[in-house]
Amino acid sequence: QSGVITLDPGYKNTGSTTSAITFLDGEKGILRYRGYTIEALAEKSDFLEVSYLLIYGELPTKEAYDKFVNDIKVHTMLHEDIKAILEGFPSNAHPMGVLSSLVCSLTAFYPESLDPNRSSDGVYLSIIRILAKLPTMAAWAHKNELGHPFIYPNNYLDYCSNFTRMMFAVPAEDYEVDPVVNDALNKLLILHADHEQNCSTSTVRIVGSAQASLYASISAGINALWGPLHGGANQAVIEMLENIKADGGDTKKYLDKAKDKNDPFRLMGFGHRVYKNFDPRARIIKKAADQVLEKLGVNDPVLEIAKGLEEAALVDEYFVERKLYPNVDFYSGIIYRAMGIPTDMFTVMFALGRLPGWIAQWKEMRENQEPIGRPRQIYTGNNERAYIPLDQR
Ligand code: SDX
Repeated sequence: QSGVITLDPGYKNTGSTTSAITFLDGEKGILRYRGYTIEALAEKSDFLEVSYLLIYGELPTKEAYDKFVNDIKVHTMLHEDIKAILEGFPSNAHPMGVLSSLVCSLTAFYPESLDPNRSSDGVYLSIIRILAKLPTMAAWAHKNELGHPFIYPNNYLDYCSNFTRMMFAVPAEDYEVDPVVNDALNKLLILHADHEQNCSTSTVRIVGSAQASLYASISAGINALWGPLHGGANQAVIEMLENIKADGGDTKKYLDKAKDKNDPFRLMGFGHRVYKNFDPRARIIKKAADQVLEKLGVNDPVLEIAKGLEEAALVDEYFVERKLYPNVDFYSGIIYRAMGIPTDMFTVMFALGRLPGWIAQWKEMRENQEPIGRPRQIYTGNNERAYIPLDQR
């Protein structure tokens, strides 16, 4: 094999690209989008402004922001044929599977998105379309699961209110937008918006490097995010906390299970490939969890179990030695649940938040004209051997 192959399973020490989008420092627990800290953006910005910042590199002027928001409003509706695909899914279809299928179907509906040499206006339209349609797809996947009528997008509402209304409203009743829910949702979406070269973003980049369309690349990212070691962890955390509660709330028993090499059980929502300190997003989400539950008057016993697990793990040698801290997924499910979002929609919420990051990274990879991703391997199979006919085996 020509040249030296460096083996790095899981790419723990491999840089796959250069990027100007997101900076994170795992030791110091720093996360910035285009130079702005997530603390400032979560406090002062809104999700569509952060989407614009990630994708176009600068905070938008008022005029640019208004155009971006209005262009998105125009495209929030789903083509009747996409609605028909959605209605073809059984009610037990997992919303992440529905979402990745519908997003990929956008390539069929808008074949011009396949053109790798599309004009920048064409790429802008592709970006606006998926930013606008993903919330509708997500909310309708949920309604399809319930067997409830779809609630159409309402262009008089802002992004978060429009989404929560499509998720929770029913035709027979008026729907009151809840500012507490929408403020928490806005914060959560901003905190999930990008995270440099994580598993699903690397998937979007490598699929896009083959000049697959934006929609096919995003659909691949959704599938990677679904894994319980990645975005699927927020659903796995709540299921774990529920199991601990059902099992009497004995957190020590589960910490011991997590430390037992012979037990495949892991403390979901703990540990991170890059953060060897507190995940800065977990800090903000933990604070928001307390505030949201108090404002909504929700007393969720799994929050106390989560806090008990965190306190015990932070002083446990096994976790301290391996620098395992709560990550973004540890507390987010508690807020989603308080907002009335069902567990199997938690990773869909992660995908909604991560969408602008995926788009920004796909766009940067294309603009930098990066080569197709094609790693090598160290071969460990058989040497050459002669074929043996069937009647002699
Ligand atoms: C996300 O990359 C990103 O940026 C992802 C993300 C994003 O925004 O895109 O931040 C979102 O995916 C957050 C992570 C969500 N996943 C989970 O919460 C699942 C539980 N966590 C892990 O499985 C694990 O910590 C990972 C997957 C997050 C990181 O895995 P690594 O970096 O490959 O670390 P590892 O599996 O090699 O573990 C190192 C050691 C091992 O012990 P030893 O073999 O050295 O004795 O730590 C142990 C592991 O057994 N370990 C855990 C553990 N996580 C690591 N032990 C118990 N419970 C855990 N959660």
